[in-house]
Amino acid sequence: GGGAADGARGLRFSPVEPNTADKVTVPAGYTQNVVIRWGEPILRGAPAFDADRQTAKAQAGQFGYNNDFLSLLPLREHGRQVLVANHEYTDEVLMFKGYDAANPTREQVEIAWAAHGLSVVVVQEERKSGRLTPVSRHWLNRRLTATSEFRLTGPAAGSALLRTSADPTGTKVLGTLNNCAGGTTPWGTTLHGEENFNQYFANGTSATDKRYGLTTGATERKWERFDKRFDAAQEPNESHRFGWVVELDPYDPDSTPRKRTALGRFKHEAAQPRLTRDGRPVVYMGDDERFDYFYKFVSSKRMKKGDSRAAREHNLTLLDEGTLYVAKLTGDSPQDVDGTGKLPNDGEFDGSGVWIPLATGDVSHVPGMTAEEVYVFTRLAGDKVGATKMDRPEDVEPSPRTGRVYVALTNNTDRGKAGKPGADEANPRNLNKHGQILELAEHWDDPSADGFAWRLFLVAGDPEDPATYFAGYPKETVSPISCPDNVAFDPHGNLWISTDGAQLGSHDGLFGVATTGERRGELKQFLTVPKGAETCGPIIQDRRVLVAVQHPGEVDGATVEKPASEWPDGPGRLVRPSVVAVYRKDGRDIGV
Ligand code: FEO
Ligand code: CA
Ligand code: CA
Ligand code: CA
Repeated sequence: GGGAADGARGLRFSPVEPNTADKVTVPAGYTQNVVIRWGEPILRGAPAFDADRQTAKAQAGQFGYNNDFLSLLPLREHGRQVLVANHEYTDEVLMFKGYDAANPTREQVEIAWAAHGLSVVVVQEERKSGRLTPVSRHWLNRRLTATSEFRLTGPAAGSALLRTSADPTGTKVLGTLNNCAGGTTPWGTTLHGEENFNQYFANGTSATDKRYGLTTGATERKWERFDKRFDAAQEPNESHRFGWVVELDPYDPDSTPRKRTALGRFKHEAAQPRLTRDGRPVVYMGDDERFDYFYKFVSSKRMKKGDSRAAREHNLTLLDEGTLYVAKLTGDSPQDVDGTGKLPNDGEFDGSGVWIPLATGDVSHVPGMTAEEVYVFTRLAGDKVGATKMDRPEDVEPSPRTGRVYVALTNNTDRGKAGKPGADEANPRNLNKHGQILELAEHWDDPSADGFAWRLFLVAGDPEDPATYFAGYPKETVSPISCPDNVAFDPHGNLWISTDGAQLGSHDGLFGVATTGERRGELKQFLTVPKGAETCGPIIQDRRVLVAVQHPGEVDGATVEKPASEWPDGPGRLVRPSVVAVYRKDGRDIGV
């Protein structure tokens, strides 16, 4: 790309070169601060982090491990906002000295339970810069862990498929697990996808366990030794209580978060809402698995505006009633798709799509499945109706300017292998290492429409690789990108993309790209993350960019004793997943 002054408004910065530095690298003229690290106390009474004296009780009052999705919500306190973070999973070998994976201790397992889940922590901005720091012990601060109480709501709540010996009502669940990405609702709540929940459950037995990827033996973390609910042979329905979208009200620290069964059960990467013109929420959702599906939920209820108690209570019911759909995509140049990524003769990977209804309330639209089965075993419903098998649908974000919906399809190295589906126009490369971003336009820009047009916005990789595409923008000037995962919009309408597992020899990072105008497709890299880390949770505000640096130092064979990264605290300290704020040294807005 060009110099700092060049680029679409909001993207006028000098791109960061791909690199393997063990730090967060930002453009010239920008600086950064660590907002909060794993283990920092956020609740009253929680102790400072002590790597050698970790306890489950301490961790339950401290910021959790492996921050992923981030949301910032407004607060009527000067210079303050409410930060909500997902803690997707734990890396025990990087948390505990001398960790014995074959024989974890009860204390280590209970620390891991407490390090999962969600955090709510109020943050304060420094007046002159974009620097952000936590307000520990704020009354809104909250931790939710693998043992906090959650409620199942919506059409499948109470179903026999969701009852266990500890909960014969099928409505009360302990904990949320593997919260990956999420979303922020227009009514002031946050949504959190429960993604790879299968990894916590041992001894899967049923066909549905198999479709959801449960192991038939012991789990890696061995939690089943310490709580029998993690043993599917003893509690076959417990795993059915994970894999949902959680809705949290961060403004009410006494509220019980809800698992919304109307949104279906799969490996929920994220859940991003927008409103129809008459005020009904529509939530877009991906199932992050090779050859799995892309979904949406359309509520039958309208959001009430305002902050009254009645409005807030009403809005907390919006995601319990409506219709769940799955996407089927058809290309318009099927004869030109050869699996190499070569552009079709019409110049675009594009086509049309339909939303196939799966269930509405108690009514199933899938032959041979009850509505409860559709919600609890949503993947099987998608299989039955012939939904399109995608290249790992990750995060999704509708553009607040154009209404077009952007879906990150991170990669699919199994595409086209023997016995596996081959390329199609929406997933045009076999052995797809680098992924693509799909742009979806609902008919009449109506989020509740039953059909849509689509095209690929970006086919990722090294721009010198002919099998890449940057919305038609000249490729000589764009940054290389691989494995898009999270997507977000900035206040100027540019799309920002973070990556996970980039396959081009450099570290993961964050990128910005215009989606409209003559610079549409001009992708520029904004930052890179330390060794072994993934870039998560990007938030782009006027004055700052926030990223969650997830799993720094997560490299095969790395341990506390043999770390792969020294980030963020330097040699001799544990690597710690952390949230980072990036802002301009001169205090002006990002990229203008
Ligand atoms: Fe947790 Fe699909 O990334
Ligand atoms: Ca085409
Ligand atoms: Ca992700
Ligand atoms: Ca990912």
